[in-house]
Amino acid sequence: MPSIVTKVNQMLDDPNTTNDSLSKVIEKDQAIVFKMLQLVNSAFFGLREKISTTNEAAIILGFDAIRNIVLSLSTFNFLNHLFTQKSNTHFKVEYFWRHSIGVAVLSRYLAEQAMVGDPEKCFVCGLLHDMGKLMLAHYFPGDFIRVIEHARQKDLMYLTAEKTILPACHCEIGYFFVKKWELPMHLANTIYSHHAIQPGAPFFNESIIVNTADGIINSYYADFLNNNISPGNIKYAYFDLHAKNLLNVWIETVPKWFPTVELLINDAWAFFL
Ligand SMILES: [Fe+2]
Ligand SMILES: [Fe+2]
Repeated sequence: MPSIVTKVNQMLDDPNTTNDSLSKVIEKDQAIVFKMLQLVNSAFFGLREKISTTNEAAIILGFDAIRNIVLSLSTFNFLNHLFTQKSNTHFKVEYFWRHSIGVAVLSRYLAEQAMVGDPEKCFVCGLLHDMGKLMLAHYFPGDFIRVIEHARQKDLMYLTAEKTILPACHCEIGYFFVKKWELPMHLANTIYSHHAIQPGAPFFNESIIVNTADGIINSYYADFLNNNISPGNIKYAYFDLHAKNLLNVWIETVPKWFPTVELLINDAWAFFL
């Protein structure tokens, strides 16, 4: 894990951290600063004023938003670099990121519009929610292929096949790595529960948002297994019961508002990929 992520996380837990000291640490990684400024000045954030320094970004967006933006950009770079060469006939890394970026953008949008969960936390949780699949594909490729083949043969959803074949699902695997890398708890907990939401669990709202965004993105764009779905039709089996209860009005009205988000998703694909 890039040291900037660990350092920024530690600083944000430290009450003595100031905007200046935080900016100095982030500015050691000019590639991240460049990307961060590009992102916060994009249509996606919809800010009226242009932000030109890390310090300004910290003042206008706040510490926590900066932490989540740095976490998103550097973890994405780290994992993307690690797995760039790992596409095979069963798994296309680009499809994986297209799905994840779509879920990230939609999670942030839903959090803002429905006023459920923190938008910046939802973005990073959406971006990394399925990272357990990357780890599985990388470290246990044989098991990963068995899951995919089982899902295809029996026409099952990926998660159902995973639970039948493996002792741990991608939610638990992602959680394990996030804890190991000492990344924030909102990321660990949301990854852990994005397919099985427990009422009262920490970051319940963020899990609801990511589950809903995941279901909508899987319904609108074929999932990475390219399951035989008709894109554009909501598939209710993708949604957790709690997500359906809380955000049903959003799920029911997707065709009305989705075109707006699609523009943001296209921008984000161009930005990240
Ligand atoms: Fe998932
Ligand atoms: Fe997903």
